[in-house]
Amino acid sequence: MPSVFIKTYGCQMNERDSEAVAAQLVAKGYSLARSESAADVVLLNTCSVRDFAEQKAINKMRNVVGTARSEKRSQIVGFMGCMAQSRGRELIDKLPDVDLVLGTQKFHRAAEYLDELLAGKREKIVDVEAEAKSEATIREHLLNGSAKTSVSAFVSIMQGCNQHCTFCIVPSTRGEERSRTIPDIVAECRELVSRGVREITLLGQIVTSFGKRDHPLLDGKSAFVQLLDAVHEIDGLERVRFTSPHPKGYGDDLVEAYARLPKLCESAHIPLQSGSDRLLKLMHRGYTRERFLGVIEKLRKARPGIGITTDIIVGFPGETEADFEMTLSLCREVQFDNAYIFKYSPRRDTPAADMPDQVPQEIREERNHRLLELVNEIAARKYDTFIGQQVQILVEGPSKKNAARYTGRTRCNRIVLFDGSTRHQGQLMDVKIERTGSFTLYGDPAVVNL
Ligand code: 5AD
Repeated sequence: MPSVFIKTYGCQMNERDSEAVAAQLVAKGYSLARSESAADVVLLNTCSVRDFAEQKAINKMRNVVGTARSEKRSQIVGFMGCMAQSRGRELIDKLPDVDLVLGTQKFHRAAEYLDELLAGKREKIVDVEAEAKSEATIREHLLNGSAKTSVSAFVSIMQGCNQHCTFCIVPSTRGEERSRTIPDIVAECRELVSRGVREITLLGQIVTSFGKRDHPLLDGKSAFVQLLDAVHEIDGLERVRFTSPHPKGYGDDLVEAYARLPKLCESAHIPLQSGSDRLLKLMHRGYTRERFLGVIEKLRKARPGIGITTDIIVGFPGETEADFEMTLSLCREVQFDNAYIFKYSPRRDTPAADMPDQVPQEIREERNHRLLELVNEIAARKYDTFIGQQVQILVEGPSKKNAARYTGRTRCNRIVLFDGSTRHQGQLMDVKIERTGSFTLYGDPAVVNL
């Protein structure tokens, strides 16, 4: 049977899509290869959020086809996901060795198309059409990959985004918002829990808009909060998370959910993008600095100690030094646990790409550097506050870098390394934090058992 290697770029949604495609192929008898050179099929699951991510995947594809050609191997190669969706056939014009271009509504067709290509029935396949109900097709999981049992799983609850932020390509790569039904999602979560999963992260491009069209408010609760309630009910599930929300989705119902639902972990990734009202408006974000600060304050009141991370763009068109300083001051005020900083990258067919006053590259670099320094300094200080504390972790398995060390996550989503063994796998346990590394905590489980 053919073997397949899938390389994933970008976000957790992409990781999840790759997992679903891999599981689908394994169910059809394919095996998973350890490297691209050993595989009969190589798929690159792509990201389009910035030009850099697209270039990485294109360069990788050039290497893959170059190596296959020089070694005279016949390999089926394909692009899937966001860049496949936005560029379509153009990718084959650019790289004629590419056999398959599979859009974001077609992941469930991967096995069928690969079978046809491998059998020589078709020479090239490009499928980037829209498909009704495709949001409900990302459901297969690979829970027992590479000799380890997963205790944590991602569940895709919706696809697409209608927010149309002026910088963002996602509405054209992922399409309009389409949500799965609550019973369908709960059934998938139950199945995962029955197979040993203890932590579930609900995924979507804008999860706080989940089910808006189809589910009316119920007792003042949005469809998303109704979904959280339903998933929370599942016996045996210990932790619930979600990503990514939109700041404007934090109504009182969601804030109250943090106070009400103990399984809902005290961590939130809330994309800020800018601290300047003028820029937030140009970005079409739909909230102000004050509203954002209000959300953070309410969440911290509902769940003291909640870990809050964010995304910020520097160098958006028209960003002045004064706008940028508003972002710096907001970061000082909020004290994010971590922030992912992105240099603005113009994306095709987005309004911001044609806005006046594009910020010169060197200023984007300089602001990136300054913000990173501030964010890292705050993050390091926050990490240090954990030293000496006892925290609960869910143990995921051996660390990738050092198999003698085990890795787990705290409820507020920080990685903890400790000297563990297979008996710790999948356990919820308390550890005492002894020291910190960069974006890691080191814990000692023995201290608790004394
Ligand atoms: N340029 C730079 N960063 C971007 N992001 C989205 N679009 C762009 C763009 N055109 C960032 C946002 C988003 C994160 C996933 O990527 O911060 O939250």
